[in-house]
Amino acid sequence: MKKIKNICCLGAGYVGGPTMSVIALKCPDIKVTVVDLNADRIDAWNDDNLENLPVYEPGLAEVVEQARGKNLFFSTDVDGAIAAADMIFIAVNTPTKTYGEGKGMAADLKFVELCARQIASVATNDKIIVEKSTLPVRTAETLQTILDSNGNGVNFEVLSNPEFLAEGTAIEDLFEADRVLIGGKQTPSGQEAIQALVDVYAHWLSPSQILTTNVWSSELSKLTANAFLAQRISSINALSALCEVTEADVDEVAHAIGTDSRIGPKFLKASVGFGGSCFQKDILNLVYLCRYFNLPEVANYWEQVIIMNDHQKYRFAKNIISTLFNTVNGKKIAFLGWAFKKDTNDTRESAAIYVAEYLIEDGAEIHVYDPKVSATKVRADLSYLWELKGLTEDKITKKLAQVFVYDDPMAATHNSHAIAILTEWDEFKTYDWKSIYENMYKPAFVFDGRNILDATVMKSIGFQFKGIGKG
Ligand code: NAD
Ligand code: UGA
Repeated sequence: MKKIKNICCLGAGYVGGPTMSVIALKCPDIKVTVVDLNADRIDAWNDDNLENLPVYEPGLAEVVEQARGKNLFFSTDVDGAIAAADMIFIAVNTPTKTYGEGKGMAADLKFVELCARQIASVATNDKIIVEKSTLPVRTAETLQTILDSNGNGVNFEVLSNPEFLAEGTAIEDLFEADRVLIGGKQTPSGQEAIQALVDVYAHWLSPSQILTTNVWSSELSKLTANAFLAQRISSINALSALCEVTEADVDEVAHAIGTDSRIGPKFLKASVGFGGSCFQKDILNLVYLCRYFNLPEVANYWEQVIIMNDHQKYRFAKNIISTLFNTVNGKKIAFLGWAFKKDTNDTRESAAIYVAEYLIEDGAEIHVYDPKVSATKVRADLSYLWELKGLTEDKITKKLAQVFVYDDPMAATHNSHAIAILTEWDEFKTYDWKSIYENMYKPAFVFDGRNILDATVMKSIGFQFKGIGKG
């Protein structure tokens, strides 16, 4: 049975970096090299100051500190790492296509395909290739075709091993995974490759935590898991609108239904809308696949999860405008939070971006504070959205003049007309809300897009307070 000694991972992002750091920590007998085309990212992974790691995750710096330089390495030498590895993980980005066939829906597999071509051209001995990126079902077939096409007699076994970690809890999710899923071919060499990867995870997970399936079930399970999770959020968010007009309280409703063991209490927190790099991308990908396979009813069913999420973001923004007497023109709106959730510096598809865009369109000034997101990132997020919408550079510069970013929450909220809470950072609950109130224009409004503040306390200070799904 093949024993893995040398692992390489292509892609040092939010998945490649943390997963490989944990594998290195838990498997001291395996050398792990994480490579990336982005030299700045690799430099940041190698930075002596662990605060400069490119990914912020609780516990990650400690893991990197213990393994880096021993059996964990970050490098830009992609060819060298491929050549030396017995097992190669592909953890590159698979964003939604922004051009051509499938634009706005299909996953863009150009980065994955490039990896396969590079592996095929560099490899001189047999290798196990592991799909770690989230991919459309049947991508393994494409990879196998590309890998086999260089005809140099090397045997490639392709496995699917999707990642289920959530940002902000990545390290605990990896240490104590609900399950690890490994899909492979039902041939003797496929089963041997599955076992080699099972042995890697068995360094710290029990057999009951490691599931094995065929390749297609594994690929499709990843898209399905994200679709189900996102569907729960859209379902509770849909009902939050009904709560607001009926004086039901969405948190009470969520608690009441969540105690039914068939439903369960998790992922029922109403919000301004889900963000993150994956839920929307993966559901759009699923919808695209269903249409491709001529299943329009199935496609429309899942698409509604995204439609509902977009509605929730715009409903939140519209509510701010209508409550502030039907215009926010020239008004200062403070944003507490920009990241798509707490405990991460990731802002991809964050609801904050879309809410800000809507308010800026109505003439608002947006004053942002997020403990982990820089001014450059906030501006880049908005610029990217406007570029996609075809705005000229001139127009983008004008709109950006309405955006201000602070290192200090008190400065962000000073002299504001309203505060919107976009991310559920714990520190927001600890602020001196009385003094924030005193430094705001009156009436002073707070729109809690995460339901983290106590409405009774906020109202007693004097705020006009609105949560999500509260009558
Ligand atoms: P990311 O953008 O943070 O990282 C991807 C990295 O791959 C980038 O640094 C990029 O420079 C690098 N890259 C691209 N092409 C390369 C190549 N040919 N060789 C070497 N490096 C290359 O993306 P991510 O968030 O880590 O996501 C990666 C994949 O994992 C996606 O498919 C995503 O859907 C999936 N996923 C992400 C999460 C998450 O929480 N972010 C969780 C589960 C699954
Ligand atoms: C999600 C999944 O939870 C992971 O299992 C998966 O691996 C990952 O996507 C992926 O494939 O990328 P992530 O996006 O990092 O992880 O974070 P989540 O905790 O799922 O939160 C996603 C969004 O939903 C956030 O904006 C969060 O604030 C929001 N959310 C989550 C709610 O609004 N309500 C909830 O009850 C839960």
